[in-house]
Formats: sequence, C-alpha cells, structure tokens
Amino acid sequence: MRFLAAFLGLGAIGFAGFWMLTTARPASYALLSGDPERGEQVFDAAGCASCHGSEDDRLVLSGGMEFKTDFGTFVAPNISPDPEHGIGGWTPEQFVNAVQRGISPEGRHYYPAFPYTSYSRAEPQDIADLKAYMDMLPPSAVPSRPHRVGFPFNIRRGLGLWKLVYLRDGWVIEGDLTLEEQRGRYLAEALGHCGECHTPRGIAGGLDTARWLQGEGRIPAINASELDWSADEIAEYLTSGFTPDYDSAGGHMALVIENISRLPAQERAAIAAYVKRVP
Ligand code: HEC
Ligand code: HEC
Repeated sequence: MRFLAAFLGLGAIGFAGFWMLTTARPASYALLSGDPERGEQVFDAAGCASCHGSEDDRLVLSGGMEFKTDFGTFVAPNISPDPEHGIGGWTPEQFVNAVQRGISPEGRHYYPAFPYTSYSRAEPQDIADLKAYMDMLPPSAVPSRPHRVGFPFNIRRGLGLWKLVYLRDGWVIEGDLTLEEQRGRYLAEALGHCGECHTPRGIAGGLDTARWLQGEGRIPAINASELDWSADEIAEYLTSGFTPDYDSAGGHMALVIENISRLPAQERAAIAAYVKRVP
C-alpha cells in the first residue's frame, strides 16, 4: 500500500515536471509596424513559398505539400491571409511566436517539419516585416489537411521536450567572419534554413550540428572541404540552377533556387562566401 502511494506520488511529480517542461511559453516582442517591401525579401530568402505555395501560384499560400518523415507524414497548412482557413487576423506577435518559437496562438507546439529551429535565429523585426508582406498576398479558402502521425508523436505536448534540446538560438559557425560572411550566415543558417536539408539528423530528428552541411544520402555536402566549387560558381548555381558542369538543380533544391534567385545578387554572393567558410 505504502509502495503504491509512493509510486503514485512519484508519478504525480513526474507528470507535474513533464507538464511544466512542456508548457509552451510565448514571448512578447517590441515590434515596429512591418515594412512589406523588406518583408518580400525575407519571404524569398526564407523560402516560405517552397512548402506553402500552391502548385500553380507560389504566392497563393494554400499549402498541401506533404513531407514524409520517420515520425509520420506532415502536410503544409494554409497560411494565406484568409481569416477562416489561413492565418488572417493573427497579430504580428502571434506570427513571430509561430515562426521563431514554434508556438501556435492557442499555445500548442508545432512540429519541426516547419523549420522554426532555423528561423529562431532571425531578427524578430524581419519576421514582422514578412507578415506585413504576407498580409498583402491573395487569400485562399482551401482548408488545411490534417497530418498523418501515429502515437506517441501525435501528442504535441511531447514536442516541448524535443524543443528543450533542439530549439536553440546562437550561430553554428562562429569565429572571425567578415561582414559579408556574417550576412551570408544570417541568410543561410536563419532564413534560408540550408541546414534543414544539408545537415544529417540524429535519431530524435534534430540536426547534428557537429556534421553541419555535410550532407547524407541523396543530399550533397556543401561545406568547403567537400564542395570544390568557387564562391562565384556557388552564387551562379543559386541564381540559375546551373552547376559548373552545366547540370541543373533538381528536386527540392530547384524550389530553393526559385526563391533565392529573386534576391539581390549580393545576397547570394554572401551565402556563397559563408558556405566557403564552413569547415
Ligand atoms: C520545409 C517546409 C516548410 C517551410 C520552408 C515553411 N513551412 Fe510553415 N509549416 C510547415 C509545416 C509542415 C507546418 C505544420 C506544422 C504543425 O502543424 O505542427 C507549418 C506551419 C506553419 C504555420 C502555422 C499555421 C497554423 O495554421 O497554425 C505558419 C504560420 C507557417 N508555417 C508559416 C511559415 C512561414 C512564414 C514560412 C517562411 C518563413 C514557412 N512557414 C516555411 C512547413 C514549412
Ligand atoms: C529543401 C531541402 C534543401 C534546402 C532547404 C537547401 N538545399 Fe541545397 N540541395 C538540396 C538537394 C536535394 C540538392 C541536390 C540537387 C540535385 O540533385 O540536383 C541540393 C544541392 C545543392 C548544391 C549543389 C551541390 C552539388 O554538389 O551538386 C548547393 C551548392 C546547395 N544545394 C546549396 C544550398 C544552400 C546554400 C542552401 C540554403 C540557402 C540550400 N542548398 C538549401 C536540398 C536543399
């Protein structure tokens, strides 16, 4: 009997601990009103359209693209400004909490198939500018489809523990970087989320930052020791999709280039300069 009481007691303490650790804590931000022109560049750099854009118009963010993972299949939701089916009516603060902390307006955790672990490194004001731009895009009334995820991964609460381990801010590549390399790091590590595809993941699905941009399987390595392209060749690839041997980019990389190629040329040069600094 005493044993049972102790057991239940421990269980209660364990549960209370789990509850505290996994509670979503949205942050408050001092944001200036968003600038849609700057927001358009954030949108292109961050590739929101790659996952949320509809098949026939990248600016209609009705979602629907599917992502198969070891944990289940995720479906990109509608994030157009439609008030019912999209995210119209969200405040800038709710939007920044979603994109940078993976927390919904109702206080639930998002799955990291939404790459907020990269976006968390961005400047909150850039994300507020992004919202001002997205507010001007066409609304879509296509309903979001549910994810197909089994137990225990369907319990979003548990993602709170995952985030304690994997949601960090701070840069992966540190040290003496030139201003251009720092800009490139911002574009690559935060907005462009290059690591989400080019860095191998551990068993829990988090990025293994010790193997930063080393690639795995069908994803090529792009660090300076394994990719022997010059910075100009990398910038050219990010502009036209052509490799130095006149192959063209395929798969998801083509979608990345579709967005990145719209940035001013010096932004792509900065990404290339950064990539050349990754050991
Ligand atoms: C790699 C694909 C991918 C990219 C890139 C991506 N998202 Fe998402 N996004 C998702 C997925 C998958 C979800 C669903 C997450 C969940 O339900 O937990 C999501 C969810 C969201 C949500 C929550 C919507 C809701 O109804 O609660 C918002 C807001 C959002 N994304 C905005 C953005 C913005 C803004 C960008 C660009 C800065 C972006 N996403 C880039 C895949 C992506
Ligand atoms: C959604 C996943 C994804 C993201 C995000 C992504 N890449 Fe890629 N990348 C790929 C894939 C897949 C390939 C292989 C393309 C092919 O086979 O044609 C690739 C290829 C490349 C190559 C060519 C390497 C070679 O040896 O052929 C470079 C350079 C590159 N990516 C740079 C980047 C940079 C820089 C970023 C961030 C701005 C980035 N990628 C973001 C998936 C991605």
